[in-house]
Amino acid sequence: MSELDRERREMAAKLQRPGVRPDPSLRITRRTFIHRSCLLGAATVAETFAWWPLLNTIDVAYAAEEPFKFAWISDTHLYPRSLNTRFVDKTIRAAKEVQAMNPPADFLIFGGDIAQLGKIEELELGAELLKEVKARQVFIPGEHDWYLDMGKKWGQLFGEPHWTFDHKGVRFIGLDTVSRAPDYWTVKNMSPEERMGHMATLDGSVAGPWAGVGRDQLDWLSKTLSSWDKSRPVVIFSHNPLYEYYPPWNFWVRDWREVNDVLRPYANVTNIHGHVHQVLYNEIGTMRSIGMLATSWPWPYAPEGVPKLTKPMIRVDPGDIYDGVGWGNISMRNDRIEHEYIMWGRKEVFVQSGPDSSLSQPEILRSRIADKIYPY
Ligand SMILES: [Fe+2]
Ligand SMILES: [Fe+2]
Repeated sequence: MSELDRERREMAAKLQRPGVRPDPSLRITRRTFIHRSCLLGAATVAETFAWWPLLNTIDVAYAAEEPFKFAWISDTHLYPRSLNTRFVDKTIRAAKEVQAMNPPADFLIFGGDIAQLGKIEELELGAELLKEVKARQVFIPGEHDWYLDMGKKWGQLFGEPHWTFDHKGVRFIGLDTVSRAPDYWTVKNMSPEERMGHMATLDGSVAGPWAGVGRDQLDWLSKTLSSWDKSRPVVIFSHNPLYEYYPPWNFWVRDWREVNDVLRPYANVTNIHGHVHQVLYNEIGTMRSIGMLATSWPWPYAPEGVPKLTKPMIRVDPGDIYDGVGWGNISMRNDRIEHEYIMWGRKEVFVQSGPDSSLSQPEILRSRIADKIYPY
């Protein structure tokens, strides 16, 4: 049995106890519809942004004190403008759409990876572009923000990497899941640029299992939650998912067992995370988990480990830079959360079939075209 299989079985045995689910009144509906909404203001802007396909709406029983909305943007992966304007354009678009929300968002959570290579210029560009959003903004870091200067510039711009606040009956918590990578760069004598380059690759076989919450932050989380009624809603933002999806890409946190130990007594926990750049839904123990879209590019689903509760997004059109990406809008009203993916590239249908065929059927392998041309 592979290491990954062993880990996954252990997680299932530990967390998926019979009858244990996030909230006994949990209701999930998945609706597919087209949202014809225009931005208020300039007609040209309205024309450009007139179609917002909203997809995979998840309604969850909740008990917020009064209705409100908030918005999520993450994974903008900004390069300096002189190198790449594509990601800049998409960040501008997301910020404009968030600012145009009606009713407005109470706050914006930015879920990490604002920069591509952690450069001062990239981080400052992100802060500048997000000024379009006038609502309160809170930030958690991604690995792309951190490893050039170990979070120095990010901290100056965006503050503490973990925090909490209460809003209209909900306890919100932001976690830092990126800054505790094992230090392999000192012994390798790497420059900051080399370190950042290694951390910026999706393949974690070089940088190792860098995603984690850490003992110190787990203790802080435990203390923060101890003053909160165990049945009241908690929403935790993290860059990485707080369970094991696919460790080779750090689609997990390595200390998910300890995270679960802290959260187990709380009946109504929702984790909203970035990093995976794809539609993702899971329930682990008493926590539900929602993976959000990036504005930059969509990652493919991992070759294994996609949660069974996920209704996978269909493969994106590589010719459309706005396909498979976007931002998220979360409404908390009456007794439910309604979560909407704002995916730009789709005109109509989102989920139109079951899981992606590559997940449910074996791939048909064939030789590469180059191998046919050069058969030696
Ligand atoms: Fe990312
Ligand atoms: Fe990331």
